[in-house]
Amino acid sequence: THWRVKAMLKTYLETSKQTIEQWLNTILKSPIPEYERLYESMNYSLLQGGKRIRPILTKAVLESMNMDASLYKEFLCALECIHTYSLVHDDLPAMDNDDYRRGNLTNHKVYGDGLAILAGDGLLTYAFQLCSENKTASANQKIKAIQCLATAAGPEGMVGGQAFDLLSEGKHIPLEELKVLHGGKTGALFNAAIELGLILSNAEKEKYTAYMTYANCLGLLFQITDDILDVTGTIEELGKTPGSDMRQDKSTYVSLLGLEGAQNEAHRVAQNAHSALSTLTDNTEILSAIIDYLMERTH
Ligand code: IPE
Ligand code: IPE
Ligand code: MG
Ligand code: MG
Ligand code: MG
Repeated sequence: THWRVKAMLKTYLETSKQTIEQWLNTILKSPIPEYERLYESMNYSLLQGGKRIRPILTKAVLESMNMDASLYKEFLCALECIHTYSLVHDDLPAMDNDDYRRGNLTNHKVYGDGLAILAGDGLLTYAFQLCSENKTASANQKIKAIQCLATAAGPEGMVGGQAFDLLSEGKHIPLEELKVLHGGKTGALFNAAIELGLILSNAEKEKYTAYMTYANCLGLLFQITDDILDVTGTIEELGKTPGSDMRQDKSTYVSLLGLEGAQNEAHRVAQNAHSALSTLTDNTEILSAIIDYLMERTH
């Protein structure tokens, strides 16, 4: 029944988050005392709070095919490093100019703009160093995984979407354009989270299509609820200041469709995600429950 699935997912998300955070805790240590402040700044953003939903998705995809995610922990940590870097830079005064993130002051509020920029640079670059250090994946899988992450994070993906978002401030953009924007700034890393699992399990073509349709819907769904929560959420729930989009005069699902329209769209996209999974024979119970969790989330 529904409550049983929800309880199971809650446990799954909590234990997965713990596992991933144990890995994250160990990766960034300053090699010399002179760099300690930089590492402190990177760890400040990486280790406090965060749902870890992207690496959890990779873990869930691997586990849906009975694989051991711990053998690929470098790739999962890399994904979270890249995501964290994107948040540190997104919050900078030259971008969204936000003061709170993951329940704490933003990186630049504590360490200053310069070190926040460098902490972001460090997290992004270190992600690829980590991937190259994995001992389980084949050379071919590593190249594919690194290519997948780089394409998703870079100008064709997240950075492209972030630039489009920045240049669209103060403008009313049509819904089709907003989908492109969200597909870049949020969708690209969600897609990469799923695709990493497919690369590391050598999934065949038909499987790929179904999982990637699921991924596309999930990223869109995630950003629609992010836009909704920016209007309906509280700082305590979100760990970041609500109202940021309105303050920055952003086009969002809520500004274009209204609150109810955005909620309806989220339901529609969630349905599509469910149908994509229904074509698979893997154990997709967790991946399916994540769809509903993302729709109903309050943070
Ligand atoms: C926030 O991402 C930025 C968006 C892409 C909407 P998350 O909501 O996953 O942030 P954390 O990692 O849980 O802090
Ligand atoms: C930013 O989207 C997504 C990335 C950081 C790539 P938002 O600007 O909506 O994220 P929040 O709301 O600040 O977390
Ligand atoms: Mg932003
Ligand atoms: Mg922001
Ligand atoms: Mg937002």
